[in-house]
Parts: sequence; structure tokens; C-alpha cells
Amino acid sequence: MRLGVCYYPEQWPRERWADDARAMRELGLSTVRIAEFAWSRMEPAEGQFDWQWLDEAINTLAAEGLKVILGTPTAAPPQWLVEAHPDVLPLDAQGRVKPFGARRHYCFSSPSMWTATQRIVTAMAQRYGQHPAVIAWQTDNEYGCHDTTLSYSPAALAAFRRWLAQRYGTIEALNEAWGTAFWGVQFLSFEHVGFPVGQPTSALPTHALDFRRFTSDEVVRYNRMQVDLLRQHAPGRPVLHNFMGLFGEFDHHEMGRDLDIAAWDSYPLGHIDTAATFVTEAERQQWARTGHPDISAFHHDLYRGIGHGRMWVMEQQAGPVNWADWNALPLPGMVRAWTWEAFAHGAELVSYFRWRQLPYGQEQMHSGLHRPDGQRDVGGEEAAVVRREIDQVLQAAGPEALETAQAQVALVLDYPSLWMGQIQPQGKDMAGFGVAIRYYSALRQLGLNVDVVGPETDLSAYALVVVPQALHVSERLVERLEAHRGVIVAGPRTGSKTERLTISEPLPPGPLRRWMPVRVRAVESMRPGRRYAVQTGDGHTCGQASQWRDLVELETSAEGMEVQVRERCEDGWPARVTHGRVDLHAMLVDDRLLLTWLQDAAQRAGLHSMAISAQAPGLRLRRRGALQFAINHGPGDATVPLPSGVALLLGNATLPPGGVAAWLAPHAPHGTR
Ligand code: GAL
Repeated sequence: MRLGVCYYPEQWPRERWADDARAMRELGLSTVRIAEFAWSRMEPAEGQFDWQWLDEAINTLAAEGLKVILGTPTAAPPQWLVEAHPDVLPLDAQGRVKPFGARRHYCFSSPSMWTATQRIVTAMAQRYGQHPAVIAWQTDNEYGCHDTTLSYSPAALAAFRRWLAQRYGTIEALNEAWGTAFWGVQFLSFEHVGFPVGQPTSALPTHALDFRRFTSDEVVRYNRMQVDLLRQHAPGRPVLHNFMGLFGEFDHHEMGRDLDIAAWDSYPLGHIDTAATFVTEAERQQWARTGHPDISAFHHDLYRGIGHGRMWVMEQQAGPVNWADWNALPLPGMVRAWTWEAFAHGAELVSYFRWRQLPYGQEQMHSGLHRPDGQRDVGGEEAAVVRREIDQVLQAAGPEALETAQAQVALVLDYPSLWMGQIQPQGKDMAGFGVAIRYYSALRQLGLNVDVVGPETDLSAYALVVVPQALHVSERLVERLEAHRGVIVAGPRTGSKTERLTISEPLPPGPLRRWMPVRVRAVESMRPGRRYAVQTGDGHTCGQASQWRDLVELETSAEGMEVQVRERCEDGWPARVTHGRVDLHAMLVDDRLLLTWLQDAAQRAGLHSMAISAQAPGLRLRRRGALQFAINHGPGDATVPLPSGVALLLGNATLPPGGVAAWLAPHAPHGTR
């Protein structure tokens, strides 16, 4: 459980570096991430390197015993590069060049960008690969940030056409796969295929999906190039990337295969205000100063899996950000609580963004651990508190108590399904992470630990597998579900599409029909405010369906086992059906009913759960190894469901908003990893 910080020596006078380094050590930080935007300082002209300042910066930090995480600087290509090689710059969907003057102004398919990247990454890795203070490498910075995944440049188009030729072989095969019989969109040759944008109305869905797949492959390929160079020239140092929250424009599971650690950047208040389009205005008000109780946690549980069990928070919000529509002050105590939350979910490192607020530049309104005048800000004070508390807890529990165990529940997230949902949402609010996070939230409100996993993950050891909305259920996922013997819950739309984004045959839920003999006869999406009552068998109303319904017809399975209708909509359509160990939720239902449904599934899976949010809406529990944590996101005080006889290592039995408690759980779970 280490603490670190993001630091930009190139933005501060050199005379300050040693004081900063000393203050970092005194605060109890052990790592510093630097350099990820400093390309123009490292290579001021093509092939001419200036390492003197970076040598000095690293050595100044090292002199205080601090370890360095070096970022490759490719998120900020220098002006000489784009002047000499304009093909580095990306084009937007309207064909306009995104010019130099901020960051992330490059196209993943640009050959010049590749050459320049190879040069700077190789030079940097050769210089610092064996530096004793450099303990890890970060590739680039937040791939895709500022809407930069998709590029519409000539280089991207040429690469897209090559990618299509490789995938389909002949143009006839492409026309067949894309269903170009529709509207006569018959392509003449691969050279005639363009981008799926700008047409009078939407392009063919498979065209759009292939462009998303291609783009994802380009990002993964570009990252792999950097990783290979780092492994070659800086062997023995883990390589990571800092992913974003609520972002799925490329396949993070694919990229994760090339990384040693998955890091992510956690901005709970920015997320609740702006990024989480699926939260309601009331929720936004409720969690404005604490962050949503499940959004950060969801990402901790997602990235732990993407990093093969190793997860870092590379940037932790330490005060107000500058980039949301409105930028609240964190409730006092929240920087501490978010840090503990990350550790409870298995983080090895929490690194704050940033050391000191910078009085100039685009992020001058973004806070840090220190104010612009150098005095400690609230975030800095809270980081110091966490440092002391970690030492205290570790002393009592011992480091082996922290091994992260496999969770009880797996929640499957599939990136291509996210793209399909964006291309054909069918209901305006159906795209994105909203459905997955609602299911996740309900499981967490039941006190369950969750691993957010990909469609390739071995599911056999999980008691309960929840697939909230994988529009496409791949053959691999079918095999994984087949090998799993526990309870499965599938949400609406699951299995409704083929890999090519056509309707599953003979009808949805497609491959799920092997466990769940039903057919989806029709679907209905509902604008906000439209609802259907959901009723139990005896006609009693138990909740409401909104947003989406699959209208399912029952069949009799080969084994002759009946599909059981558990609840129906007021007009008779099944809302939830069960067949053996599988539940299908045919509609999205209100949070309370969803909680009941998942609690029922958990119980059948043999899991002990309790509706902990019933008494305090923001209370969440999380087990890490032998340690049990409780965190209260508010709004009121929360009573921690403490087992009798345990002694608290942290906090009290009653937690104020932002409060954290930790205790040694009576029995450590088996199978820790
Ligand atoms: C992240 C980014 C940082 C900084 C931060 C501000 O997206 O990686 O460089 O811009 O946001 O919140």
C-alpha cells in the first residue's frame, strides 16, 4: 500500500526540486510519476536529445529515496515533429486537422508518429532503463482522452482498408458480411471503402463496428510497439498504462494482455458531474462532494482484472478538478476515503494528481496536494493522515493480510458489446456503462465482492456470474459459462447480436438459448418517465420496469424442464425467468427490485448477502485478504455491521460521511491470489 504523486519538474524552477523532493518524502510518499508530457524538453529537435534536466530531476528525487515511474512522452508530440511531418496530426470526422497547441494531437496510424515514437521511447529506455530509481514505465498517457481514439486521416483510411482486406479477403465477402444488399450499399473494391461518417444518415452498422474494431486494434498495436521497446531496453521493470474511467473506445482487455500492471486515473467528482451520463440529477446532487459510491469501485475491480491482479491508481483526485461542468470541493475526508477505497479494492499504489496546483496553463484551476503558493492543501493533509494510518493498519495486520482474493461474483464486461450499443442504442439511454454499473451497484449494496471480468476470463471458481448487457456473447464466453457450475444472471439484450452486429439467429438471446429456452419476440425502449408495473405471481406489484424490455416467449427445453416465470409486467410479459441455474432479466427494473432479484440469485449461489445500503445508502463493504473495510459515502451517518467481538483497526462502529473502518475478518478466505 504505497502512496505516490504526479510531478512535473519541467514546470517548476530547478531551485525548487530538492525542496519538493524532501517534502514528498516527509509526507510519506514513495513514488513519483514524471515526464509524460515532456517530449519537447527531451528531444528539442529531431534526433537531438537533452537529458541533463531529466537526469537531474530523477537524481534529485532518488536522493530522497523516492522511486520514479517514467512516462513515455508521446501524448505531447513537439511542434518540430508536426511541422516536419504533418501526417502526425489527426483529422476529425469532418476532415478538419486537429492542430498543434494542446495535447494528444496525433493519429495512431501515422507512420511518422510511429518512427518518432520508436526513436524517443528507445532513447529514453536506453538512458534510464537500468536506473536504480526507475521502478516502472507508463506508456503514453490516457489513450483516447479528449476524444482522440478515432482518427479520420489518410493514413488511418489506408490502414483501415488494409485491415478490411485482411479480414475479408475479397470485396464480395465484405459486401456479404456488411449486408450491403440493404440500400444497395455495394462497395466496388476495398479502395472504395470510406469512413462510416458523414453519410446523410447512419452507415451500415457492420461498417461502423469494423471501424471501431480497427481503431481499437490500432491503439493496441501502437501501445504494443512501445511495450516491446521498453521490455527490450528497460528489462525487469513493469510496464503499465494509465486508463481512464467510464471509457471504452478501445478494447482494454486486449491491451491488458501486453501490460504488467493496469493503472487508472480516478476522478470521482469529475465522473459524477460530467462523465457519468447515466446518473440522474438527484444522484448528482446527492453525491456531488463524495462521488458515486460505486463508480470508482467498479473501475478498481475492472482494472485489477485487466492488470492480471495488479492495479495502481496512477492519478487520484486530490481536490477540485477543472474539467467537469461544475467542480465541487471534495467533502473533507474524501481524499482519505478514496485512497482507502482503492486499497480495499486491491490497489498496490495510489498516486495523487498533482503535487502542486500550477498557476498557469490549461489546468491552473486544477488543485493538487499543495496550493499554488506551496502550502499544503486539504488533499495533502489527508494524504499525510492516510500514510500514518496505513502504517498503523499494516503493523496490526501484517502485509500478508492484504493478499487480494478472487471475489465471489464475476460481472462480465465486453468492449465490442459497448461499441455495438453505441452504434445501435435503440433507446437513447442504453449505450455506455450505465447498465453494467447499475448491476454492479446492486451487488455491492448486497455487501458482495465483485470482479469485473472480460469474456475470456476463467469463470469456473465464481459462485455467481452476472452478464448485465453483453450484446454479443462470443463462443469463448459460451465456453466459459459452460465450464462454470454456479448461478448465471443475464440482463436484457444479452446475446441479442452476432459478432457482425446482426440479430442473433433464429432470435435473441442467441447463444443463451442453450441454457434459457426463450425467444425474444420484440423489444421496447422507453423514454424517461415511462414505466410498467412489475407483478409477482399473485398480482402484487413489486416494482417497475423502465428504459428497456425484451418480450420473451417461452419454449420447452430439450430436458423438458419448464422455464419458470418469476414476475411479469402488468401486460403479462415475463419480467424475470429462471431455468435451472440461469436467470434472465427480460427488462431493466428499478434499483430496489434489481437488488431483490440479485439477492435471490446470490442466495441460490450459496452466497451470504445483506442489503447494507438499506440503512445507509452510501455504505459499502469490501474485503481484501484478511482485512474487511467499510466506507461511508454519505449522506448521513452509517452504522457498520460489525461481527461481534472484532476489534477495529481503523474508524468507529458509526461512520460519518467519508468515514472508513477496517477490521480483521474472523476467517481469511481461501484461494487468495
Ligand atoms: C487526466 C490526465 C492528466 C490531467 C488530469 C486532470 O485525464 O491524465 O494529465 O490532465 O486528467 O484531471
